Amino acid sequence: MVAVQSIAVLTSGGDSQGMNAAVRAVVRSALAHGVRVYAVQRGYHGLIQGDIREMDARSVGDIIQRGGTILQTARSKEFMTREGQEVAAAHLRALGIDGVIVIGGDGSYQGAQKLHDLGIRTMGLPGTIDNDIAYTDYTIGFDTAVGIVVDAINKLRDTMTSHERSSVVEVMGRHCGDIALYAGLASGAEAILVPEMAIDIKAIAQRMQMHACRGKRHSIVIVAEGAGRGADVAAQLYALSDIECRVTVLGHIQRGGTPTPNDRILASRLGDFAVRRLIAGDGGKACGVIQGQLVATDIAAVVAARKRFDTDLYELAMRLSQ
Ligand code: ADP
Ligand code: F6P
Repeated sequence: MVAVQSIAVLTSGGDSQGMNAAVRAVVRSALAHGVRVYAVQRGYHGLIQGDIREMDARSVGDIIQRGGTILQTARSKEFMTREGQEVAAAHLRALGIDGVIVIGGDGSYQGAQKLHDLGIRTMGLPGTIDNDIAYTDYTIGFDTAVGIVVDAINKLRDTMTSHERSSVVEVMGRHCGDIALYAGLASGAEAILVPEMAIDIKAIAQRMQMHACRGKRHSIVIVAEGAGRGADVAAQLYALSDIECRVTVLGHIQRGGTPTPNDRILASRLGDFAVRRLIAGDGGKACGVIQGQLVATDIAAVVAARKRFDTDLYELAMRLSQ
């Protein structure tokens, strides 16, 4: 017995690489299971506007490799209101849509919860580069964003070595330091500043001075935006140690480009899983992958939880960057 006849998919909040792969998986999996599938343009804003169109297999051709989201995204204040949510639900019911897959971050998940409370069964997919969503090891776009930061630091190493100069690199991550942590470990950064760990700028300055005395020609300091501004960190280091750092703020470059194979595979697995859960009668859940296993967790539990910071990985990064 198929519990849903028609489903819709939308992307919401900050976009991330791999969202298109997830949209493709949702559409193709639904069609493969004999379920009609619709796309909502511009997230919850489009849902309130009724900007909804039926999809076929060709609608998602040649997008698996594309960054961004063909469904676009938007931040909608109106959907924060009960009235907006009810208008959105009415548009879905008018089309006979009884299941919605929301690809976004924790804010979008809270919106999905509201739709579920109104009787539209929803499944959330973790679409954000920040990796700040609980009950999944990784979010869609995180691997690609980390790769962009590592590639940028590889390029910075050349000029740092030429000038025997250090760099402060500011990366995205409003409340979560995972981009800084993973890119820092992968780049051999000497210091990784994240919102989850206390910052001792004096100790960092002393460590950089010690490295210089040991013959290190440069140091890399990576700063998650949630831990501070790169320019401020560079100024503090200079004041404490006379070490002059050039500052690079990577900004929205971290949000573009083609998704890595890992992100495409993660998105494909999660998109198909969400469709199969809806067909099985599930709803109000957020999908994720934990130690390779697909999981579906109550959205309320996911948005209430804070992503665990991997202190073992942090300590490893510091231990290896002597
Ligand atoms: P992200 O999903 O990346 O965290 P936002 O926090 O901007 O991005 O949320 C995206 C959209 O989700 C918001 O513009 C709003 O329309 C909707 N949303 C966020 N929080 C809620 C909420 N508590 N209730 C209803 N809708 C919400
Ligand atoms: O949530 C993902 C994210 O890229 C954050 O890392 C960043 O701080 C934020 O979105 C930027 O938001 P916007 O794209 O609206 O400027």
